[in-house]
Amino acid sequence: MIPILKNDRLLRALARRPVDATPVWLMRQAGRYLPEYRQIRARAGSFLRLCENPELACEVTLQPIDRFALDAAILFSDILTIPGAMGLGLTFAEGEGPRFAHPIRSADDVNRLGVPDPESDLGYVMDAIRLIRHELDARVPLIGFAGSPWTLATYMVEGGSSTDFRHIKAMMFQEPDLTHRLLTILTDAVIGYLRAQIHAGAQVVMVFDTWGGVLSTPDYRAFSLAYLHRIVAGIRGVPIILFTKGGGAWLEEMADTDCDAIGIDWTTDMGKARKRVGKKVVLQGNVDPCILYARPERIRQEVARVLGEFGRGTGHIFNLGHGIQPHVDPERVGVLVDAVHELSIPYHGSSGSAHGTASRT
Ligand code: CP3
Repeated sequence: MIPILKNDRLLRALARRPVDATPVWLMRQAGRYLPEYRQIRARAGSFLRLCENPELACEVTLQPIDRFALDAAILFSDILTIPGAMGLGLTFAEGEGPRFAHPIRSADDVNRLGVPDPESDLGYVMDAIRLIRHELDARVPLIGFAGSPWTLATYMVEGGSSTDFRHIKAMMFQEPDLTHRLLTILTDAVIGYLRAQIHAGAQVVMVFDTWGGVLSTPDYRAFSLAYLHRIVAGIRGVPIILFTKGGGAWLEEMADTDCDAIGIDWTTDMGKARKRVGKKVVLQGNVDPCILYARPERIRQEVARVLGEFGRGTGHIFNLGHGIQPHVDPERVGVLVDAVHELSIPYHGSSGSAHGTASRT
């Protein structure tokens, strides 16, 4: 019962099958840079109310799809829905980011945590997915997502965003067993949540490990990657993309999880990354999100550079190296998306097979 997609570039690239042009979608493609988003958020009253309202979340998910020639939609939600459902008292103060009224600081706090039931505690997310699939009408695939256990733990233990990660790192170094207990609960929660998203209709899933890159190599392996392994092993039926921001040093190890694709940020060279992972995984990325503050010609140049670094053949999903920032002019997003399609055509197709396109696909 595989629905025929009108645009299946993303799924083809994830399966390393030939594409006519490189697929592109952008992290945070639905968000504050779009005036139509700001309008709906005002109508919802707050960001969280928007996430919790399936009709409005659906509308916002589709806004960038209606405006730009994007090759995928991403569920409008947040990685912090899981800790929110665990009863940590999540709020988003205007302009200040997330805040937890009850951060996790002790063994008692961890012991009190339960794994949320995705269908009841996070049912609004599943309702949004079903509605989005219906409204998308097979135009493009829908990406579901969750935060990595490590990244969720940073917010839960810090009580919000952090620059120094002092509470979570103190816990990691002082009480590694407790930290592993917390990460194990979060891993179970993430697996259940992603499975429910797939059941509801997500056609690809992505795990955002935004803060894996603040760890040393052995700590990354023990406190983030080990749990990413469990998540990949626990997910069946759809491709899975792993993104560790600042994770350029660990691409081979990330590929060993058997994930389908790895997101890379702009500090990692796309061409070298491709040589390192070979055909094992697809690569997603990786222009600096601030390129969208440049003028159109400069944006096109940067798109051309990254496409050229990846080179011929399938297996590349164009994206930013992190989310779109709120002050970006939406027109520049259109310039980038169109440039990816136009400038990538010469890297696909049968002409120039002297470079071995067929063997790569
Ligand atoms: O990509 C998309 O378009 C889908 C929606 C999406 C959001 N958050 C919406 C959002 C996704 C995939 C996320 C993931 C997310 N959320 C991550 C991982 C990716 C990353 O950006 O590193 C993280 C770390 C969060 C946690 C989070 N949510 C923070 C720290 C903040 C505040 C910072 C900020 O950008 O305002 C949010 C809020 C948030 N999540 C907004 C959006 C559109 C802005 C909320 C608003 O409208 O005010």
